[in-house]
Amino acid sequence: MYAARTPEETIFKGAIDRLQKNHADYLTVDYYFSEIKNSSRIDKKDIEDVLRGKDLQNTLVYVCAPEGIVTMVWSVLQSVNLNPEHFKYESFTTSALNIHKVNIPSKDATVYFQDESKNYEIQVKKDNTLLDELIDKNVPIDYSCKSGDCEMCSCKIKQGEIVSLDGKNLKKYKTGDVILPCVSYAASEKIELAKA
Ligand code: FES
Repeated sequence: MYAARTPEETIFKGAIDRLQKNHADYLTVDYYFSEIKNSSRIDKKDIEDVLRGKDLQNTLVYVCAPEGIVTMVWSVLQSVNLNPEHFKYESFTTSALNIHKVNIPSKDATVYFQDESKNYEIQVKKDNTLLDELIDKNVPIDYSCKSGDCEMCSCKIKQGEIVSLDGKNLKKYKTGDVILPCVSYAASEKIELAKA
């Protein structure tokens, strides 16, 4: 199972496809493309489908993914009683700004954040992602990958403008849009967010 945004952004795809072709008797590769129509992100059901019918006593599972995906896979493996010693993983996090090294047209801002029980007001610096600022100011928000992949940090813009890194591109978002704070920066001086 290999998840990426698009076929073009899938590292080693050519080599993997050749391997699959040359060893079709024992190698199968399923791609999941989050930005391609009729494809999708990997979810629990996909993991269950792959495990169905397997001899789990003799199955080794290896996962290299953002922490949230690793946790999700492990929860499925626990539900089918896979021996913990048969589960190997590497989890990673990334910083969107470091990866892309682009100039973000962002602003210092006041951000109001609303969760189920409380409203928070914080000051954010234009060079920091909204998620980093929310975490830094002890605002309770779910997150995992910090790279725009797991969608755990999703928030709705109630007011204001945001600029987000979508792959290597910048996208502007405004009132009513849902954004991922881990790859987003303030683009107006006042912003209101709520948990999506
Ligand atoms: S933390 Fe994973 S998408 Fe934001």
